[in-house]
Amino acid sequence: MTTATRGTGQQGGQQGGPQAVLTPLSFSGEGSWAYDPAPERVRPTIRGRYGLFIGGEFVDPAGGKWFASVNPATDETICEVGEAGEADVDRAVKAARDALPGWRAMPAKERGKLLYRVARRLQERARELAVLETMDGGKPIRESRDVDIPLAAAHFFYHAGWADKLRFAFAGRTPEPVGVCGQIIPWNFPLLMAAWKVAPALACGNTVVLKPAETTPLTALVLGEICREVGIPAGVVNIVTGAGATGAAIVNHPGIDKIAFTGSTDVGKLIARSVAGTKKKLTLELGGKSPNIIFEDASIDQAIEGIIQGIYFNQGHVCCAGSRLFVQESVLPEVVAKLEHRLTSLRVGDPLDKNTDVGAINSKAQLATIEKYLDAGRGEGARLHEVNGSALPERGNWCRPCFFTGVQPSHRIAREEIFGPVLAVMSFRTPDEAITRANNTPYGLAAGVWTDKGSKIFEIASRLKAGVVWLNTYNKFDPASPFGGFKESGFGREGGMHGLRAYVRV
Ligand code: NAI
Ligand code: MG
Repeated sequence: MTTATRGTGQQGGQQGGPQAVLTPLSFSGEGSWAYDPAPERVRPTIRGRYGLFIGGEFVDPAGGKWFASVNPATDETICEVGEAGEADVDRAVKAARDALPGWRAMPAKERGKLLYRVARRLQERARELAVLETMDGGKPIRESRDVDIPLAAAHFFYHAGWADKLRFAFAGRTPEPVGVCGQIIPWNFPLLMAAWKVAPALACGNTVVLKPAETTPLTALVLGEICREVGIPAGVVNIVTGAGATGAAIVNHPGIDKIAFTGSTDVGKLIARSVAGTKKKLTLELGGKSPNIIFEDASIDQAIEGIIQGIYFNQGHVCCAGSRLFVQESVLPEVVAKLEHRLTSLRVGDPLDKNTDVGAINSKAQLATIEKYLDAGRGEGARLHEVNGSALPERGNWCRPCFFTGVQPSHRIAREEIFGPVLAVMSFRTPDEAITRANNTPYGLAAGVWTDKGSKIFEIASRLKAGVVWLNTYNKFDPASPFGGFKESGFGREGGMHGLRAYVRV
C-alpha cells in the first residue's frame, strides 16, 4: 500500500497537494518497510597487525608504536597498524627515491600493464575489499560494493591506458615524471582516494609515499599487498600509516617532490604554508558547502532522489555533498513534504546489511562535530526536521539523517562544512538570486541544478563557481572526468586528462 504512493513519476510543481499522495512510512510496524536483515556474510581474513608497507614489504615501525583501527559501527578494534614516525617516513621516501630510476626507465607500455593488473586484482578481490572498507569506515556495504571499489578499479584501468600515451596528452611537449610524490588522503573514500592518488602518479612514472587516514588505513594496506602481488617493483608504492604527525613528516620531508592532499581546509592551509618557498609541487582537494538548486519546473521526485543521494547515502561524509539545498519558493512546501517522507524510509544502522542506506559516522570525533552543528542550527533559530525513526544499534556512532528549514545565509549550518547527514534547506525566487546565494560561500567544489529547461541548465551551470556542476543528477563520478575545486575548495584536478598535469613536468 505504501509502495503505491511512491514513485508516482513526474510531478509538476504546483499540481496536487503533497499531503494527498504521501502516506507516512514506518519501520516499526509491518508494512512494506520492515525488511528482514540481509547481512553480508563474507568476512575477509584480517591479520592481527599490519606493519608499514615500505620497499615492497611490511615492516614494523621504527618507534615500535602501533594503534588500533576501530569499526565505528561496533566500537570494536579490527586490528593494529603501525604508527610511522619521521624515521619511517624517511625510510619510505628513500625507498621511493631508489625505485624511481628503474620505474621511469621501464617501457611505458609495461608500466601500463602493471596498472592494468592492479585494476584486475582489485576487481577479483572486490568483495573482500568492500567488506573491509565498510568495517573500517562505517559506510554502507551497498556504497563500498557498488561505488567505492568499482570506481577504484576503474581509476586504475583508466590510467593504465594513459601510461604509454602521455605525449598525446601534452601535445608537442615531453612530459617527465615529477619524482617522489607524498600523498595524504582522508577517511571518507579510503580506497577510492588511494586510487585517485596512486594511479595517475604511477602512470606518469612517479613513485609514491601514501598515507591513509588514521581511522581507515586497511584497504590502502591491501592495495600495497596487491601492488606486490602483481609485480610492481619494490619501493614504487609505499604506504605509511599514522595520524597528523605522520602526514606532517611527509609534507616536510626534503626528499619529496610533490604533495597531493585531500582533507580538511584547515590542514590544507597548513600544508600550503609548509610547502611555500620549497620546490615541492602541490595540489589540494579540500572541503565544500555545495549547493543543490531545484527550480519549480524540475521533476521533483527525481530531484528528491538526487538530494537524498547527494547528502545522506554516505552519512554526508562527502567533500562534494550537496549540503545546501536551494528550492524555488513555489515548490518549497512540496519539496519539504517529500523530503520528510523520503527520510522516513531511509534505513540507518548496520553498514554490513545490504539494505542499509545510512551507515555509521566514521569516528567519535566526527560525530561530535556533527552534533555541535545540530546544536548550532537549533541555537540560531533554524527548525530541525528529525523524522527518521530507525532504531539505532546500541554501540557505535550514529546520526539519523535530518534537515533544517528556516535557515538564514548567516547561520553556521549554511556556511560551514558539517560532513554529516544534515541538510540546510533555503528558498529563492529568481534564477539570479539562486546563483548569487549558491556562490555565496568560500568554497567552490560542486553544485547540482534541477530543471527541465535545457537553456536554463547551461545558463546556470556557466555562472556557478564550482569545479563540477551536475545537471539533474548528483555525485556521479567517472575516471575520465576531472574533479576539483575553486576558491577554498583547493586547486588542481584529479581524474581525466587534466589530472595528469599534476604528475608531470613538461
Ligand atoms: P584532516 O584534514 O585532519 O584529515 C585528512 C588527512 O590529513 C588524514 O590522513 C590526516 O591524518 C592528515 N593530516 C592531519 N593533520 C595533518 C597535518 N598537519 N599534516 C599533514 N597531514 C595531516 O580531516 P579530519 O580531522 O579527519 O576531519 C575534519 C574535517 O575536515 C571534517 O569534519 C570535514 O569537514 C573535513 N574533511 C574533508 C574531507 C574532504 O574530502 N574534503 C575529508 C575529510 C575531512
Ligand atoms: Mg577504522
